[in-house]
Amino acid sequence: MEQYIMKGGNPLVGEVNISGAKNAALGILAASVMTDEDVVIENLPDVRDINVMLEAIEEIGARVDRIDRHTVRINASGIGEVSVDDEYIRRIRASYYFIGALLGKYKSAQVPLPGGCNIGSRPIDLHLKGFRALGADITVERGAVIAHAIDLVGAHLYMDKVSVGATINVMMAATLAEGLTIIENAAKEPHVVDVANFLNSMGANIKGAGTDVIRIRGVARLHGTEYSIIPDQIEAGTFMCAAAITRGDVMVRNVIPKHLEAISAKLIEIGCEVIEFDDAVRVVGKPVQHHTNINTLPYPGFPTDMQPQITVTLALARGTSIVTESIFENRFKYVDELARMGGNIKVEGNVAVIDGVKNFSGAAVNAPDLRAGAALVIAGLAADGYTVVDEIGYIQRGYECFEEKLRGLGAMIEKVDSEKEAMKFRLRVG
Ligand code: EPZ
Repeated sequence: MEQYIMKGGNPLVGEVNISGAKNAALGILAASVMTDEDVVIENLPDVRDINVMLEAIEEIGARVDRIDRHTVRINASGIGEVSVDDEYIRRIRASYYFIGALLGKYKSAQVPLPGGCNIGSRPIDLHLKGFRALGADITVERGAVIAHAIDLVGAHLYMDKVSVGATINVMMAATLAEGLTIIENAAKEPHVVDVANFLNSMGANIKGAGTDVIRIRGVARLHGTEYSIIPDQIEAGTFMCAAAITRGDVMVRNVIPKHLEAISAKLIEIGCEVIEFDDAVRVVGKPVQHHTNINTLPYPGFPTDMQPQITVTLALARGTSIVTESIFENRFKYVDELARMGGNIKVEGNVAVIDGVKNFSGAAVNAPDLRAGAALVIAGLAADGYTVVDEIGYIQRGYECFEEKLRGLGAMIEKVDSEKEAMKFRLRVG
């Protein structure tokens, strides 16, 4: 089983380049099958979730040509299948975007229901409610969503909850519906805007993405396009916290600073220096960092996907901090792992009370999910001694070249898959 082994204590210093946004790319890849013309997508992150999504697109009959590590050409004219294999939804939840894309284009889709995951039950009732509002007949049989529509007709719908996935999925289906669709209480995340911009580059007519009311005027068809994915807000935030927790000085390049405002504001609150440039953010950690309170919210609030990373940073700050997880019901599983490193956090329901400690000591810990895994790695880089993080497959789903990028900042970290390799690392770094 591959693991990360690291020796903590080095402040991270230098520059790191951020990859394309995984959660924008997943929606955009699904939407790329909504035309029969060539679609070229650039700045794709080379991470497992994206590669699984590309396999799923090929499996239903589209042609996928890898132009280079971060660029792909897709042509969906050969799609003969509107049923997505269970294998893909079990490996990545975002396969559910095929419902909106295939229903929009073919008025038919069959996609297995995504399971829950380690951070919560993750229902898709809002997605299905949106498709029904557009006139689709939706049934759930043998663990799969079966969607059919004679015609999709624009509707005025209100999302009971702010949902990134439901907003993107319904927006996709509505691009080829007849007439006007209005989505109220829509999600405003940067990746929702990126998917809307991508669809508009294919000839869709979407207005208001990034606000809580999105208007989609249906068009007859979508054409090919060339498009570059926005930088990953959460990867950038993860490296910003890595700079803070290790008391380093890191220039995070290829970002959109506006997308990082909630994260920058909190790092400034705890005492870090954060300097914004056109497409970069510099974070300088301070020897003494202070407590603050965090409440995760839909964008532009503090992102839930940054909750583990800011929590471990606060666990090494002075004073008591309170972190409230308002989006998912089970996103503090990593707290028990952090306790093995000396973290002092008490979780009651969706609230974590963090009593800052002076230092962590290295330990063997398990990554319970993607973002918590990344948080345990940056905690290990700030710890005294050696830390081993297991189950790193979660981390590789969403972070491209994670250990290489960290080593580029002076981290002593390696990916190992045997005790012998771990021993060699210990001997080498001493
Ligand atoms: C997306 O998940 C992201 N995943 C998640 O990132 C992210 O945490 C989440 O948005 C919130 O920002 C992708 O984009 C692939 P939601 P999604 O629908 O769309 C409830 C990562 O680390 N809900 O915005 O599934 C839901 O249970 C991942 O990259 C319903 O009740 O999230 C949650 O409590 C983790 N019914 C809340 O809404 C629905 O039909 C927000 O979920 C849909 C959602």
